Amino acid sequence: MTEFPKNFLWGGATAANQYEGAWDVDGKGASTADMLLGGTYEKPRTFTKEIKPGAYYPSHQGSDFYHHYKEDIKLLAGMGYKTYRMSVAWTRIFPNGDDAEPNQKGLDFYRSVFEECHKYGIEPLVTISHYEMPYHLTETYGGWGNRKVIDFYVKYAETLFNEYKGLVKYWLTFNEINIGMLFGGYMSLGLPAKDGAAPFSGKMSDEEIQANLQGLHHQFVASALAVKIGHKINADNMIGCMIAGQVSYPLTSNPDDVLKAQLTNEINNYYCGDVQVRGAYPHFAQRYWDEHNVKLNITAEDAEVLKEGTVDYYTFSYYSSSTVTADPSKAENAGNFSMGVKNPYLKYSEWGWSMDPKGLRWYLNDVYGRYGIPVMVVENGLGARDTVEADGSINDDYRIDYLKGHIEQMKEAIKDGVDLIGYTPWGCIDLVSAGTGQMAKRYGFVYVDRDDDGKGDFSRTPKKSYYWYKKVIESNGEKLENK
Ligand code: BG6
Repeated sequence: MTEFPKNFLWGGATAANQYEGAWDVDGKGASTADMLLGGTYEKPRTFTKEIKPGAYYPSHQGSDFYHHYKEDIKLLAGMGYKTYRMSVAWTRIFPNGDDAEPNQKGLDFYRSVFEECHKYGIEPLVTISHYEMPYHLTETYGGWGNRKVIDFYVKYAETLFNEYKGLVKYWLTFNEINIGMLFGGYMSLGLPAKDGAAPFSGKMSDEEIQANLQGLHHQFVASALAVKIGHKINADNMIGCMIAGQVSYPLTSNPDDVLKAQLTNEINNYYCGDVQVRGAYPHFAQRYWDEHNVKLNITAEDAEVLKEGTVDYYTFSYYSSSTVTADPSKAENAGNFSMGVKNPYLKYSEWGWSMDPKGLRWYLNDVYGRYGIPVMVVENGLGARDTVEADGSINDDYRIDYLKGHIEQMKEAIKDGVDLIGYTPWGCIDLVSAGTGQMAKRYGFVYVDRDDDGKGDFSRTPKKSYYWYKKVIESNGEKLENK
């Protein structure tokens, strides 16, 4: 294969809590994401135990997809999208998480969204849980730390599989499940947090690692059960995992740096990938647990479920790479959730994320070589500030350059023999940043009039990259020039 396959799934991606808004409309309950205030690169977002009157919570309005979905899907269709990755807000379906019956208005909303996609021949790709869960489950049950939450999730997933049979075929069980072990805490595991805390853990104690890994184990079991049920409900369902692709290079050829990079890649990517694709914890897990005094409660039944509920395809996000060293005297640099040292060969974005298209080729080869199942890049992109010119145009050449470089490397990976089936760049229509809560960190092909203080009328304007990406899709990845 030397070019993109004919049925390649070109598209884009969003998530409900960053995009949908209407956080308390038509019976929707509060999610963990709805309790997060905005932040900046320098100042982390914070969690509040109650909604503070007058404070600005970015997820509450997002980009108001709830009231703009017809316009938005038409815009995506205008670029020729084959697929649209989005997430369902658990709290729109089960407002508290432990409700006996689903919320009909929530079910109806997503049915209309999926029908609208099909009107244009766009295949929905649905993330069942993307960085949010019913806040009630955190408060009352302790989030994913509690085994009972598995049953609530499974009931939710089963409801979706039944309800949208024939409308949705591609599913992802959890977004970036490995963030649960890398940064854990509130945002990805819904573990109870203190008022005013950041949603991600910083440097973790062994107790925190224990709590995160047990919560993560519950997510693995929930994911595997969902895969089993999803296949039973519809044998055509393609159910995948989603991993935050973390590429770690050794800073030097010193064997200590090389070993450190190997271990970092194993822990960051394969701890979760192996459980979800191979159905068992990898060989290096036991040593990691021992070194952090972790004792997991894994029942014999859990082990069986993990084996039976392996995924059909592997998806991941890729934004940047990190560089690690065993030398403690070297300064660390924050980037894409992980820490590392500065790579002298790479440029960095305003938010400190390295730009490394070749890292994507490396990762694609690495995961495909390990798992041998179809692979999809379901997030990629450059978070950057955009300027609206006097004539209303937005000339985001920097974004085009970034995406072009990554598409070129995907092409190389396909030549290398990787079975790459799709590409959905992140935040195809501008949305709230998960990490900082800002609107200013934009990824989209379409500009949304909204700022960090909640001002703006939500009007949509295609950027220069919109017309560029349209040509990329039309030519199936052949026309990449920016002209
Ligand atoms: C991924 C998440 O980690 O990165 C998205 O799945 C997120 O939810 C994206 O938005 C980009 O990160 P950020 O912090 O720039 O929004």
